[in-house]
Amino acid sequence: MKILVTGGAGFIGSALVRQLVLQGNEVMTVDKLTYAGTLTSLAAISDRGNHQFVKADICDRPAIAHVFESFRPDTVMHLAAESHVDRSITSARDFLDTNVLGTFNMLECARGYWESLSAPAGARFRFLHVSTDEVYGSLGAEGAFTEQTSYDPSSPYSATKAASDHLAKAWHRTYGLPVIVSNCSNNYGPFQFPEKLIPLTILSAIDGKPLPVYGKGENVRDWLFVEDHVGALAIIAARGRVGETYNVGGRNERRNIDVVKEICLRLDHLFPQEKSRETLITFVNDRPGHDFRYSVDSTKLEEELGWRAATSFESGIDRTIRWYLESEWWWGPLRQTYDGRRLGQLEHAGP
Ligand code: NAD
Ligand code: DAU
Repeated sequence: MKILVTGGAGFIGSALVRQLVLQGNEVMTVDKLTYAGTLTSLAAISDRGNHQFVKADICDRPAIAHVFESFRPDTVMHLAAESHVDRSITSARDFLDTNVLGTFNMLECARGYWESLSAPAGARFRFLHVSTDEVYGSLGAEGAFTEQTSYDPSSPYSATKAASDHLAKAWHRTYGLPVIVSNCSNNYGPFQFPEKLIPLTILSAIDGKPLPVYGKGENVRDWLFVEDHVGALAIIAARGRVGETYNVGGRNERRNIDVVKEICLRLDHLFPQEKSRETLITFVNDRPGHDFRYSVDSTKLEEELGWRAATSFESGIDRTIRWYLESEWWWGPLRQTYDGRRLGQLEHAGP
């Protein structure tokens, strides 16, 4: 398969590219290399002849059109996005540009290319738009998001992802572009930028720094190990029905405070010290518009395409902690540009 991956130097995208390349697919990664993207995440496949990298902005129409014409993919897996909720609260502009206009540009370039294909190649072509469960908004103590749940985004980030989902579906309904949309819960694992809860907690705990927990720490996320997500994306792109949405979730709900305590306990076990790392936990002002609970019902994906999350939270978090302990070569340079400071407070918000 010839697969074009956008955002392939980011957390999920790089896990996807590494897997697709090692499986023998011909892959082209397109990435702007923002603060969140680094080619060191693709070091494991840098000597593979079946991978090409192009540094480009998905908003750049001529550059993206050229990528389609020169590479001639049969599948597009579109992951490039601004992904961090707290950054979207401080400044939403890049989220609108990349997530909304960038997706529009990807869809238009894909459409132009797809319309030029022969009938058999056009029938095989797929555009997988990778999105988030955050488009559905916030749950109370009960229930789970299904593919029928109405969109109700809370943050600038999730509002732009919701807009991009609508664009992707409209390009299918209006132009017939073979689009599929996936909506996934919180990912964790190696190579995640240390602004997100799990890597930030691991690195701050190693350094003996405060571990900020928003509000009372009672918000719940549904955690999925990144390699399980990547496996789901490959299956959805290959066998999902065109025009459909597939939810992807871990069936692994945890309160934030319990995730942070679990990391502390595991680090204490690996490197015992006089005071438990739990003493570093610091409750801080809540995130504005903080969604209370996410829970994703992936029954459709499980029953229709036979996917199921394979990694338990216990084994996934153990692998993740050990990876960060061994991988300063990867996160050291990133901590030079982002030192773990609090993001997303209203008094710092701008356009
Ligand atoms: P990430 O922030 O780690 O990586 C995003 C990548 O996109 C980076 O490599 C960045 O350089 C690139 N990028 C950003 N703007 C670009 C632009 N204008 N042009 C080209 N490249 C650009 O994000 P992630 O966590 O890997 O998320 C990937 C996708 O999956 C996103 O679409 C996100 O919304 C979605 N998603 C993420 C999660 C999660 O828990 N992380 C869960 C569900 C869905
Ligand atoms: O649900 C999928 C989404 O998960 C993805 O679409 C997003 O791209 C991804 O960033 C993630 O969003 P969250 O906002 O849920 O992830 P984050 O790691 O920022 O926060 C997880 C939870 O932990 C959330 O309830 C906020 C809380 N939190 C976060 C940070 C960074 C803290 O309590 N302290 C922190 O320092």
